[in-house]
Amino acid sequence: MELEKGYFITFEGADGCGKTTQAELLEKWLNTKGYNTLMTLEPGATDLGKNLRQILLHYDKPVSDEAEMFMYLADRAQHAQMIIKPALEDKKIVLCDRYTDSTVAYQGYGREGNIEQINILNKIATKGLKSNLTLLFDVESEIAQSRLGKTKDRLESQGIDFHKKVRNGYLELAKQEPERIKVINANKTIEEVFSEVKKIIGELLNI
Ligand code: TMP
Repeated sequence: MELEKGYFITFEGADGCGKTTQAELLEKWLNTKGYNTLMTLEPGATDLGKNLRQILLHYDKPVSDEAEMFMYLADRAQHAQMIIKPALEDKKIVLCDRYTDSTVAYQGYGREGNIEQINILNKIATKGLKSNLTLLFDVESEIAQSRLGKTKDRLESQGIDFHKKVRNGYLELAKQEPERIKVINANKTIEEVFSEVKKIIGELLNI
């Protein structure tokens, strides 16, 4: 099915919120309806990004907050220009697992970085490319943590207080941009959450 323009939909939420499962379900659903999609993620969609992801999630020596932020931004700059923009020009529906809001939530609210500066850096990294719609999967931090496996990566192994700050940061963002960011209660079952996702995307695409 040919769309008049591309759509850029991002999936956000704390570790363990279930967004990746929902993105995969949505891609299948859209494909059965004949839509052309591209599923992608941050960090790690490009070759450069895969190297950065390895460092970001598994480097075992101390990493400064600024170095961490700039690596996420470098991954995003490469991703936006090499993968996302061309797919949107091809009129695809781009489904992206994490994007700019993750840096505001994690490095801004979680690490208590300067949010104004992060907003500017996000703009530089993406050359101003914003998502058309963002689905924020909101889940109690304790439930999200219990969904994670035993071997946690560098970010997942931050304490519960960090994850609570991230969650509250996301909710604050949703309050600031209610048109773009739709909050979905992700404490429910996969099926219940997905029916909410379908409702929102159905409205966006007039399905
Ligand atoms: P993932 O587990 O959803 O693939 O994400 C990787 C981790 O990176 C996750 O803990 C969230 C974190 N992250 C940030 O801290 N800042 C960012 O800008 C992005 C994209 C991810």
